[in-house]
Amino acid sequence: MTDANLDAVAELVGLGLERREARWLVEEFLPGADPAGRTALAGATRRRLEGEPLQYIIGHWPFRTLDLDVDPRVLIPRPETEELVDVALGELASSASLAPLLLDLGCGSGAIGLSLLDELRSRGIVATLVALDESRDALEVARANARKHRITNVTFLESSWFAALDDSLRGRVDLIVANPPYVGEDEFAGLDPVLGYEPRGALVAPDADGVVGLGDLALIVREAPAWLRPGGSLVMEHGDAQRPALLALAEEAGFVDRRGVDDLSGRPRIIAARRPA
Ligand SMILES: C[S@@+](CC[C@H](N)C(=O)[O-])C[C@H]1O[C@@H](n2cnc3c(N)ncnc32)[C@H](O)[C@@H]1O
Repeated sequence: MTDANLDAVAELVGLGLERREARWLVEEFLPGADPAGRTALAGATRRRLEGEPLQYIIGHWPFRTLDLDVDPRVLIPRPETEELVDVALGELASSASLAPLLLDLGCGSGAIGLSLLDELRSRGIVATLVALDESRDALEVARANARKHRITNVTFLESSWFAALDDSLRGRVDLIVANPPYVGEDEFAGLDPVLGYEPRGALVAPDADGVVGLGDLALIVREAPAWLRPGGSLVMEHGDAQRPALLALAEEAGFVDRRGVDDLSGRPRIIAARRPA
């Protein structure tokens, strides 16, 4: 960083930004001595001081191997979702398929599905992905991210969960991944107001089976077996209090090898389960 840029960082810290965020903004908007950069940096700083998430201001954010474009049409990909990708890769490693068919339900920015394709590609595995979302806006962002990373073996589909999937896919999918909305209505009201910048439809789900925010997760667990091939896996992210209900639902739906995985901070956030072989 040049002396001028270090001065700019100090200036932003003086205005109330954290040093780490100030550095990110300066690196993004003030790479050279261009005076237009100064105006962009001032605008970005104002937006951040007003509370907008840094990721939307910068407009892109790293997720595993990818630099994903993000804007208010999509959820900002979270670190715990990066861990979900590890669990999904582990499920695929123990499967026999050399050209797996993947389904990313509620793909948002494309974080999970596109990462899987990219990382499998680097291991010489050519997977095929169907990435769906009920939000047309989110699908536009995911498509742009696929183009940005030259990922072509993906079909994007506007669909409420499994509703618009072609029947020919029934019983053929190797892996279903999902990070659906799982925050209850009342719970949402008490959460960090910064979440108000993200699409509400990406976060809030109806209650089900007496569990707050379980509606979308429950629907997916119940319908997934019809789409998975024998031995295929379901991997989903969920909220802290939802694991027992989800494992019970997975058992009811006939899944085997059901397990919960904690995230790096020890919170119960992921379940994985297999359709019997
Ligand atoms: C928590 S976000 C996850 C986005 C992305 N997969 C990620 O992990 O960053 C949930 C996504 O599910 C989508 N969604 C919500 N309800 C849906 C539904 N009924 N059918 C399909 N997608 C839905 C939202 O639009 C949003 O993109």
